Amino acid sequence: MPQPRGDQGPVYDLVGVGFGPSNLALAIAVHERNATAGSAPVSAVFLERQATFGWHRGMLIEDATMQVSFLKDLVTMRNPTSSFSFLCYLQERGRLIDFVNHKSLFPLRIEFHDYLEWAAVRVDDLVRYGADVVAVRPVVADGMVTAYDVETRDSTFRARNVVLASGLRPALPPGIEASQRVWHSRDLLTNVDGLAGTDPSRFVVVGAGQSAAEVTAFLHERFPNAEVCGVLSRYGYSPADDSPFANRIFDPLAVDDYFDASTRVKSMLLGYHANTNYSVVDTDLIEALYRRVYREKVLGSQRLRLLNVSRLTAAQESAGRVAVTVESMLTGARTVLDADVLVCATGYAPADPFPLLGELSARCHYDEQGRAVVERDYRVRTDPGVHAGIYLQGGTEHTHGISSSLLSNTAIRSAEILESVCARRHTEPAVPALSGSGRASSYA
Ligand code: FDA
Repeated sequence: MPQPRGDQGPVYDLVGVGFGPSNLALAIAVHERNATAGSAPVSAVFLERQATFGWHRGMLIEDATMQVSFLKDLVTMRNPTSSFSFLCYLQERGRLIDFVNHKSLFPLRIEFHDYLEWAAVRVDDLVRYGADVVAVRPVVADGMVTAYDVETRDSTFRARNVVLASGLRPALPPGIEASQRVWHSRDLLTNVDGLAGTDPSRFVVVGAGQSAAEVTAFLHERFPNAEVCGVLSRYGYSPADDSPFANRIFDPLAVDDYFDASTRVKSMLLGYHANTNYSVVDTDLIEALYRRVYREKVLGSQRLRLLNVSRLTAAQESAGRVAVTVESMLTGARTVLDADVLVCATGYAPADPFPLLGELSARCHYDEQGRAVVERDYRVRTDPGVHAGIYLQGGTEHTHGISSSLLSNTAIRSAEILESVCARRHTEPAVPALSGSGRASSYA
């Protein structure tokens, strides 16, 4: 369906930085609003550095499933009648009845990726791929910041609001750097093909979360002659709490509760419910891994080994191998494992979008721990002279709670941001047009 783009002029209502699921959900909200008779169109463009849509491609392991219900797709929580729902996608792919018979709320990750791609294609006219945003600069008129120039390497987009959704960046243990033999789990499938034709003898996988367990199971299956050593500081993999009452921490209402809570209660809630998301594993996968370990014990050839209460202390590469030093936290004993590859499934940190803002970041407000002060509508609090909006999708766990970097609340969060942008439209000062060749030259 063609997307009505509304105002084609040089000043957009919003420019989105990054086009993962968060800003995809926002693009759909814009699309649906613009298609609604009587609503003033919103002009928007989304800038994505990847050449095509891609969501954690390096971890699209064939049998991995989603950790969130398909009903928390890009739209359903906001608009259950949307044609962008996961159910509409299934219908179009001819799998609706098969999915229903499956009796699962959790699609395959690879299937959800296909859903996201399917949705992204339908709002393609709002997106510029291969567009790496390198700076966001203030546009000043009469002493006020009225807009931003969002710059990629070869184009500039002027907007009254920017929505920063740059996602997560991989976190490696201190002192460890990614290389040909040391991978972050993010790059698993991208790198593993490079081992074709070799016969690896050992992998070491560090981490205790879902990714670590998935990588361990994947390598154990893919390389039947290799030993796979899982290194984790816990006693064993621990289950993700997805029980119904605990799951309420991801509800839209929980965002209100969290936002209004005191700092003490916020940190208490994050502590209580960290095990809904962090360093935990789906129970099915834990049981499958345990079955493998036990089966190997019975058969007398242990290929899947877990080094628990242990930590990685060094990784030294030489002659096509990596020497991985692991220290037992119980005894202090150090073991050096000679491995083909070390995979660090050691998680992610929110990508910090503030360096992009340059001088503008000095006009944003921060709390005593140096974190951005973010209003309930996800708008960063700025100096009074700044009239143009900076919105965050992600990186707001300290203000909006645990769902900030997850899919659970994407549909609602996008709607709230769009509502805020629209509500302020008529009260903001005029913005000078972006003149001459600077305007979106390669895309216009
Ligand atoms: P995301 O990281 O997806 O997208 C950000 C985009 O911004 C990227 O495409 C990036 O290229 C782009 N970008 C960054 N900087 C840019 C710049 N300067 N210029 C242009 N583009 C830029 N959550 C959940 O709720 N349920 C689940 O099942 C899972 N499963 C899952 C599996 C795996 C393997 C991982 C690693 C994570 C999950 N998650 C998850 C959590 C995950 O963070 C979440 O699903 C989304 O990726 C969040 O979407 P975003 O769009 O916010 O970020």
